[in-house]
Amino acid sequence: MKGLILSGGAGTRLRPITHTSAKQLVPIANKPILIYGIEAMVEAGISEIGIIISPETGGDIQSAVGDGTAFGAAITWIRQEEPLGLAHCVLIAREFLADDDFVMYLGDNMLEQNLVGFVNEFETRRSAPELGSENQLVAQILLTKVDDPSSFGVAEVDEQGAVIALVEKPEVPPSDLALVGVYLFDKTIHDAVAAIEPSPRGELEITDAIQWLIDEGLEVSHDILAGWWLDTGKKDPLLECNRLVLDTIERQVDGEVDDASEVEGRVQIGAGAKIINSTVRGPAVIGENTVIENSHVGAYSSVAGDCTITNSELDHSVILANSMITNVPRLVDSLIGSHVVVGSSSRVRAGIRLMLGDHSQIELEG
Ligand code: DAU
Repeated sequence: MKGLILSGGAGTRLRPITHTSAKQLVPIANKPILIYGIEAMVEAGISEIGIIISPETGGDIQSAVGDGTAFGAAITWIRQEEPLGLAHCVLIAREFLADDDFVMYLGDNMLEQNLVGFVNEFETRRSAPELGSENQLVAQILLTKVDDPSSFGVAEVDEQGAVIALVEKPEVPPSDLALVGVYLFDKTIHDAVAAIEPSPRGELEITDAIQWLIDEGLEVSHDILAGWWLDTGKKDPLLECNRLVLDTIERQVDGEVDDASEVEGRVQIGAGAKIINSTVRGPAVIGENTVIENSHVGAYSSVAGDCTITNSELDHSVILANSMITNVPRLVDSLIGSHVVVGSSSRVRAGIRLMLGDHSQIELEG
């Protein structure tokens, strides 16, 4: 089985945090979302992985992933010149995928559950078709109940568990079962993506391709997601996901902590980082070469590499690389992009919540 990760896409769909960089590289506990996807594939025994990249952000993604050997994967880069849809990604990956079964994984999705059970179930169902089912199983999708199905691909499932209809972001959803960004296909999907037409929004939709399989009388099965799932760079779900992942980390201090500082609990401090006259309360991660001085970093915070936090206090916040925070007494529940400068001339008293995209600069007044 092979893997196909979709990490292209248009800048226009990115949320404020990632205006200038790829949303698949937004970090959770200082590790890009995309890397969790690669690791999940390798854990499920899939090491031949194709990654779709766009001309705009592909270079950043290639630098973050490297050649894949660090994760035990062999990566094939597939460039998509324009974001023409999820099914278009399958179309252009034809040569890489050949006639193999594959997992397709949306590079901006993050799942708590691993892929092992999902992949095994597909293989078992394919080798031993269920009694009474005359159709051939060609695809398997992952579904979860959501409150706002209109923002997702939505599935209609019959009492036997067979998927009978799929529709992308419907105004009137046929159910509350949204498609999570993980799909399993056999080679029949190549006929489907070649047969469908672009949707009204001009994209080749994977939901239409799967609907084509169903209309051909082929079987599409589903699994229900276990555990949490994150699919966007939105602030609150991202902070929540960061909290859940930080809850699983172990303590590892590689950077320097001076005598006037306290590092409590499960905290990871990267090499070259310096903690000077400060406290860091776990679970928290501090990236390589970051300097924390006269400050307090509270639980459930992730500060990426090459940041400077001075005379400040932060709690339950995510700060991306190369940002500088000075004289901010209480920054809470915040998501700060990379290369951001937050400063204050006087000491601001109230707690503040911020969502700042890359390269923002703000000056607070007391
Ligand atoms: O997150 C789950 C949802 O993902 C599903 O419920 C929907 O059925 C599915 O269409 C998709 O919807 P989104 O609107 O969230 O897709 P998005 O444009 O964010 O693209 C998902 C990933 O695929 C993202 O990493 C970018 C990448 N992509 C997207 C397009 C349209 C590409 O690599 N190429 C593309 O042409």
